[in-house]
Amino acid sequence: MCGIVGYLGKRAAYPVLVKGLKRLEYRGYDSAGVALLTESGDLKVYKTKGKVADLENYVSDKDVSGCVGIAHTRWATHGEPNSTNAHPHISYSGNLAIIHNGIIENYAVLKKQLQEKGIEFKSNTDTEVIVHLIEYIRTKKNLDLLSSVQLALRTVIGAYAIAILDKNDPDQIIAARKSSPLVVGIGEDEFFLGSDASPIIEYTDKMVYLDDKDIAVIRRNEELEVVDFKNTKIDHDVQKVDLNLAQIEKGGFPHFMLKEIFEQPDCLLDCMRGRINVEGNNITLSAIIDNRKHLINPRRIIIVACGTSWHAGLIGKQLIEDFCQIPVEVEYASEFRYSNPVINNQDVIIAISQSGETADTLAAIELAKKKGAFIYGICNAIGSSIPRATHTGSYIHVGPEIGVASTKAFTGQVTVLTMLALALGKERGTISNDRYTKIISELSLIPEKMKELLKQGEEIKDISRIFTYAHNFLYLGRGYNYPVALEGALKLKEISYIHAEGYPAAEMKHGPIALIDEEMPVVVVATKNVLYEKVISNIQEIKARQARVIAIVSEGDDTVRKLADSVIELPQTEECLEPLLASIPLQMLAYYIAVAKGKDVDQPRNLAKSVTVE
Ligand code: F6R
Repeated sequence: MCGIVGYLGKRAAYPVLVKGLKRLEYRGYDSAGVALLTESGDLKVYKTKGKVADLENYVSDKDVSGCVGIAHTRWATHGEPNSTNAHPHISYSGNLAIIHNGIIENYAVLKKQLQEKGIEFKSNTDTEVIVHLIEYIRTKKNLDLLSSVQLALRTVIGAYAIAILDKNDPDQIIAARKSSPLVVGIGEDEFFLGSDASPIIEYTDKMVYLDDKDIAVIRRNEELEVVDFKNTKIDHDVQKVDLNLAQIEKGGFPHFMLKEIFEQPDCLLDCMRGRINVEGNNITLSAIIDNRKHLINPRRIIIVACGTSWHAGLIGKQLIEDFCQIPVEVEYASEFRYSNPVINNQDVIIAISQSGETADTLAAIELAKKKGAFIYGICNAIGSSIPRATHTGSYIHVGPEIGVASTKAFTGQVTVLTMLALALGKERGTISNDRYTKIISELSLIPEKMKELLKQGEEIKDISRIFTYAHNFLYLGRGYNYPVALEGALKLKEISYIHAEGYPAAEMKHGPIALIDEEMPVVVVATKNVLYEKVISNIQEIKARQARVIAIVSEGDDTVRKLADSVIELPQTEECLEPLLASIPLQMLAYYIAVAKGKDVDQPRNLAKSVTVE
C-alpha cells in the first residue's frame, strides 16, 4: 500500500523517480507526487490526483531538475484521494518534504498537540503529522535532521516507511521503517530507495533491506549508514538481488494479470526445481530437513493468511490432513491476531503471503511466536518482512506478481503446500508409498497440463462475452475444489466488480438456492472425483431454476456437457492436484469478463497489492 521511491546521486532524479513509481503503481494508484531539490536550490513539490501518468502530464511544463528527490504513489487511508492529501507533504517552514507508507495510529493526539502550538495542517492525512513534528523538534531543540527524526519516531505509534528531504541539505535523504517495507539500493556514487526492489533493479542489484526501527542515513559521497533511534550503528547486509527486468514488465501482454496467468506453467517449474526428484521418488524441502524436530510431530498446524493466500491455506489443510494426519486449522490472520488462541510450543503456524508484507499476517505471526509456536512462512517476495519474521519457510519462487489480483502466487502456494504435505507425510509414514509416488509424478506433469489448458483461452474469452450482463455469480465446488470456487468468486469480484459468492456445492440448498434464477450464472467445478454424482445433482437443481451453468469438467465428460450451458475441460490428474488446474479457467473467465466490461484489470478500484495496513 503506497509506493515509495527515492534517489540521490549524479543522474537527473525525476526520470528515475517516475519510472520507479510506475513499477510500484501496483501498490496504490489514487494519487502521486514527487519532491525534488532543484538545480536552483528550491524544494519543488508536484502532486496530483490520479495515476503516475497524470503526474507526468501535470509536471510536463515544470522545473524537474536536480539529482535528489523522493516520490510516492498513494493508496488512501486518511483523507480522500486528491492533490492536497497526495504525498509528499511539506513541513510548516517549507523546508522538509516527507513521503510515507503506513498508518500513524496516534496521529489525532499528535495533530491536536501541534495545532495547539499554532501549526496549521493543510491535508487530512496522518502523514502530515510526522513532518511537522520533526520540524517542530528540530527548531525547538536546535537539532540536526537525523536527531529530530530519531526523537519524533520515538513519539510516533504505528507503521511507516518514510523518506525525508531537507531543502537546506541537498546531499542527504533520511529514511526509516517500522512494519512497512523499505529497500536501499547502492550504486556507484548513488543511492536509490524503494518499497521493494523493482524501482531499483534497473540500476543496481546491491540492496539493503531495512529492518524495523532502522534509520538509513543516505549522504552524497559517503557510505550508507544505518542507525537506530538512539543513534547506535546497525550492521547491515548488502544483498545481491536476483531479479531481472523482464520479470517486472508486461512482455507483450496487454495486462500483467494475463501475463501472470500464462506464466504459471513456468512458475510451477521454478517452484518445484531442485525440490522434486521424480526418478528418485523424492521431495526435498530444506526447511523440513533443518527443522525436523519442530515439523514432523506437531500437536496441530494452524494456517494464517488473508484473501487468496487464505484460499490456498484451505487447500493446504486438506492436503496436510489427508497425507500427514495432523489436525489443521485455517484462520484469517486479521481475526486470529485479535483472538486469544490456545497455542503452545507444540504447535506449528504456517503463514502464507505473496507479498510477505501483509500487516495482519505479520501480526498473527508475532502473536503465535510470543506463545511459543514454531513459524513456517510460505512467501513469494524475497527478503520481505514475513520471511524475516518466521523461523523457517519456503519461497514459492514464481517471480514478482504485479497484477493486483493474485494468480500465479495462488498456484505457487498450493504447489509448495502440496510438496510440504507430501514430504511430511512420507517422514511420518502416513501416506502410502504408492500414493506418494503417484502424486509426485502427477505433480511434475502439472506444468504441461496447464499449458494445454491455457490453449483454451479463446474459448473462455467467447464464454466470458455471454456473461458480462450478470450482476451476481455463484461459484460452487466440493472437497479440494471448494476453495477453488471461493478463489474464482474472489477473482471475479475484484476485477469486474460483479458480485460473486463461492460455496461448497452441497450448501447451495441451505440458502443460496433462493437467489438462483435465469439472471444468475452459476460456475460449477464438476470434475470426475468421488463427489461427482452429487455435484451433477446440484447442476440439475440449478438448471431446473433456469440459471446458466458454466461447468469445469474432466476431459471427455459428456454427462455434464449435456446439462451445462458452457463447458471447460480439464486434463485428468489426481483429485488433490485438481485445484492447480481448475483455478486457471476461473482466472481467465474473471479476466476476460473484466476486460469485456472495460475495467482496469491490473489496478482495480480500491485495491492494492500489498496490504501493509490493517
Ligand atoms: C486477491 C489478493 C488478495 C491477497 C491478500 C493477501 O487477488 O491478491 O486477496 O491474497 O491481500 O496478500 P498476501 O498474499 O500478499 O499476504
